[in-house]
Amino acid sequence: MSIEQQITRQLEEVNHFAITDAASLEDFRLRFISKKGDLSDLFDLFKQVPNEQKKQVGQLLNALKAAAENKFRASKEQIEAHAENNEISDFDVSLPTVPNQFGALHPLTIVGQEVMDIFTKMGFTLSEGPEIETDWNNFSALNFADNHPARDMQDTFFVDKNPDILLRTHTSSVQIRTMTEQKPPIRILSVGRVFRNETISARAHCMFHQIEGLYVNTKVSFAELKQTLLHFAKELFGHKVQIRMRPSYFPFTEPSAEVDVSCSLCHSKGCNVCKYTGWLEICGAGMVHPNVLKNCGIDPMQYTGFAFGMGIERIVMLKYNIKDLRLYTENDIRFLRQFKIS
Ligand code: DAH
Repeated sequence: MSIEQQITRQLEEVNHFAITDAASLEDFRLRFISKKGDLSDLFDLFKQVPNEQKKQVGQLLNALKAAAENKFRASKEQIEAHAENNEISDFDVSLPTVPNQFGALHPLTIVGQEVMDIFTKMGFTLSEGPEIETDWNNFSALNFADNHPARDMQDTFFVDKNPDILLRTHTSSVQIRTMTEQKPPIRILSVGRVFRNETISARAHCMFHQIEGLYVNTKVSFAELKQTLLHFAKELFGHKVQIRMRPSYFPFTEPSAEVDVSCSLCHSKGCNVCKYTGWLEICGAGMVHPNVLKNCGIDPMQYTGFAFGMGIERIVMLKYNIKDLRLYTENDIRFLRQFKIS
């Protein structure tokens, strides 16, 4: 048999060889591709082909080699792809999937947002201030006397032992910044973190959140303060709630009041949340002290103002009957998941 005939026969065998699985693929490789296979025998024979025939026979031989290699590569890819598909098909498609877990907003975020919405609808705009403050903005300009106990080391975190630089103890500092920079009418709300040097317990924390409101204009009255807070309380706790104001003292307001809402958990009948009084304290408030206006360059003979401040943690506690402040910062997923809004 001439070498050309042998090549043709080999080509037929290559074409007819049935590759169905990994084993037959390996057989094919050993027979046609490997160095010891039939094809290399032909290449050995080729060395004896007379020179004038080499070109023609060489082309045939190369075509055979390419055909074998192409078939091998294509079959290999097919078998591998099939193996992958088989793996996937092992899955039980009828099994229920693991449900997607959606995150939940933190209760402080939810309530903070609600409070902001209520006041921005009344025309308050948001104003921000830094957490690291000067003594002037946090205390002196707010009419705190030099020896006021709130300045004490026990309450205030000072930065680098500098008595003039501190972590703000309340958001009232933003009142000073705003009144110093802007001219009345001023109607702002400020939300943020505040810091006090307290031992952490169920009822106290060294970091918490406050919301501060301030309205300064000509002829602002105490009646407007009361109506504003009443509207706020009804929006937040429901339209049946009432408020009451008790006389109090803050250096930066005169007169000052503490504001209670009727307990919506027991409808004022008395429960352990309102300590059987029927009332829950929600914020401090008052008319801006003339000294504070003066300290910010606003003429107290021309302008008056009201201010109020509340702790968000406390409002969330009242709304959701939470008993321990530490829950807010422990990131216990079982606690946080309860506040999902659908
Ligand atoms: N800054 C006060 C506090 O941290 C809260 C407060 C009371 C803010 C009365 C006010 C206010 O604006 O008028 O306890």
